[in-house]
Amino acid sequence: MITQTTTSPDAEPAQRTPLVVRTRSELRDAQMRWAIAGPLEPGGPDAAPGQRAVVMTMGALHDGHLELVRRAREEAGPNGQVVVTIFVNPLQFGAGEDLETYPRDLDGDVAKLAGVGADVVFAPTPDVVYPDGDPVVRVSAGRIGEVLEGEHRPGHLDGVLTVVLKLMHLVRPDVALFGEKDAQQLLAVRRMVRDLEVSVEVVGVPTVREADGLALSSRNAYLSAGERERALALSRALAAGAAAADRGAAGVTNAARQVLDEAEGVVVDYLALVDPVTVDAVADDFSGSALLLVAARVGSTRLIDNQAVEVSPDQR
Ligand code: PAJ
Repeated sequence: MITQTTTSPDAEPAQRTPLVVRTRSELRDAQMRWAIAGPLEPGGPDAAPGQRAVVMTMGALHDGHLELVRRAREEAGPNGQVVVTIFVNPLQFGAGEDLETYPRDLDGDVAKLAGVGADVVFAPTPDVVYPDGDPVVRVSAGRIGEVLEGEHRPGHLDGVLTVVLKLMHLVRPDVALFGEKDAQQLLAVRRMVRDLEVSVEVVGVPTVREADGLALSSRNAYLSAGERERALALSRALAAGAAAADRGAAGVTNAARQVLDEAEGVVVDYLALVDPVTVDAVADDFSGSALLLVAARVGSTRLIDNQAVEVSPDQR
């Protein structure tokens, strides 16, 4: 059954509680109603028709996710439709990772989405997304899926791309928004859309951080107070790297590496300065736009972060 609650009949779109759908047919009904009747709270007769924008998440929503939804509302326009998907995708978790313990709180998530302009929440169970069990045919991230995250989480990005493409087919968005926080994921999605002619516009949204620099992540909930303090080494290392942008590529990585070396209780999986399109490591004499990426474990929690750096040749 589909339930729709509004805070009041003339509530602003941003105040509306989203419609929660769990099955493919409920999602289709919501899309049909939108296509036939237009939005439940139209933006006015002069408003442009609007687009459908999707934000895909695994739930345990925080302000980083909500920023994506706000941006989706802008992209969709007042007469558009904003769909948020909440699905902890088993395909992208490796053996021994946190699939079972990943935080799940659908009611809390829906409450958070009420204030930011989401129209529909699609929260399927695994059997809805994978009715035939694990898919036989999958998307491969190719070379992008084998380096950095791919080296430490084999198959992870293939699992991400497979579910992203499936959700794109189910939701049929005009625009899909992804966070720059997961930079390698964002560029793998961009590459898939380009390489496989998927007619969806991909929009990247800057990383939302705590006041002290820690990038918001659902996995931050695993950190003890002490670990949270140690986790700041990631964003500090990236800031040190960015501050050394005029010391050449080697200067950037060395500055970041030094912060990580001095940090206690932080086990680094990788620190890399890469080409932001190919993810190939840049040469020591490189100058131009690059991406500084870090992944590290703090206690048993694995965290990732990144920062764009405009590298100029070492002048010293
Ligand atoms: P999840 O980790 O829930 O993230 C959902 C989206 O929110 C991703 O696009 C991610 O980059 C973005 N995001 C997370 N933290 C952010 C932050 N601090 N600032 C800005 N954006 C942030 O990423 C996934 O889920 C999954 O892999 C998914 C794409 C849903 C496929 O299963």
